[in-house]
Order: sequence, then structure tokens, then C-alpha cells
Amino acid sequence: MTDESAPALPAAPKPAASAAAPKTPAPPPPGAVPAEVSRRGFLSTIGVAWAAFAAACGAGAIATTRFMFPNVLFEPPQTFKAGFPSEFQVGTVDNRFKESYGVFVVRDEQGIYALKAVCTHLGCTPNWLEAENKFKCPCHGSGFYRSGINYEGPAPRPLERYRVVLAEDGQILIDKTKSFAFEKGEWSNPESMVAV
Ligand code: FES
Repeated sequence: MTDESAPALPAAPKPAASAAAPKTPAPPPPGAVPAEVSRRGFLSTIGVAWAAFAAACGAGAIATTRFMFPNVLFEPPQTFKAGFPSEFQVGTVDNRFKESYGVFVVRDEQGIYALKAVCTHLGCTPNWLEAENKFKCPCHGSGFYRSGINYEGPAPRPLERYRVVLAEDGQILIDKTKSFAFEKGEWSNPESMVAV
């Protein structure tokens, strides 16, 4: 039984449904990229663009440097003056042009000729040995007389001679664009020796 004389308790207020219920974010539309991912993608794209720009700048700088300082190989001239005939004593081999031009200038009783300082075996540079009166190749031991004729070691033929003429001023002019080979009978060419 209920006591009808007891005062009725006030009804507890009902919470508003809209205030109490947590809001759930609306699902992204299909195909949409989350904001964080989109920002990272943007920064990544910027980074790639800067890297490409820096690479292009670097390549341009290298190309400019190569243009300003080209990798040119400076060769000595093919024709040069060696001096006046009177400067060469009979029976001597002049080594002065060996390093710079690859030439030995020899004077014998007949005249002056220019021997090519390249061994006919495999191309090493022979040395003139004054005490032994011969050219000797340091690579495999080929020996050559003062004339350039081979006589020992594996060299199959004599040293070659370059073209020599007298220039207008009377100096010996050595022309490396033309050479003469003994085995071809070319040493009889008047330009293979300057007669003195
Ligand atoms: S290169 Fe001169 S002897 Fe071989």
C-alpha cells in the first residue's frame, strides 16, 4: 500500500539527449584524404621539388665550370726549330728535345737527322747511353746504334726518323708530321737528313 499522505518527490530532470550524447565525427566522403596525410604529402612534394631544383642548379654549376676550364690536353707543336747546324757537333746525340718533343737530334759525318724516341717493339722511350754509344730501351732491352738501326733485343726494326729541313733563318726545322722508315728505303729521302 502506498502512503498517499506523503509528499511526492519532484521528478529528476531528464538530461537533454542532444547535450549528453557525444558527437561522432561524420565519416569522410569516399576518396577524401585525411588532413594529416594530405599535409605530409604536400610537404613531401615540396621537398622533392627543392631536391630537383638543387640538383638542376648543381648540374648547371658543373657544366659552367667545365665550360670555363675545359679539360684540354696541350700537345707540343708538331713542328719546331732545333737550332743552327753549327750547334751540333759531329758524333753527338742531343737529348734536349727528348722529353718535350720525343726526338733525339743526331749529327754524324753526313749530316743531321731527328730520331723518333719511340721503341719499335712496344713503344717505350729509349735512352741514349753515351758510355755505351747506343740507345737502350728500358722496357725489354732493345738496343739501337746511333744511326737508329736495331741490333739487340725484341725490337723488330730501326727507330724512325722525322723530316728535317733548313728553315728560312738557317735553323734545323723538325717536322713530326712526316717520318721515314729504314726498312721501306725511306732513309734515302733527302728530307730524312740535313746534309752538313
Ligand atoms: S718496348 Fe722497347 S724493347 Fe720492348
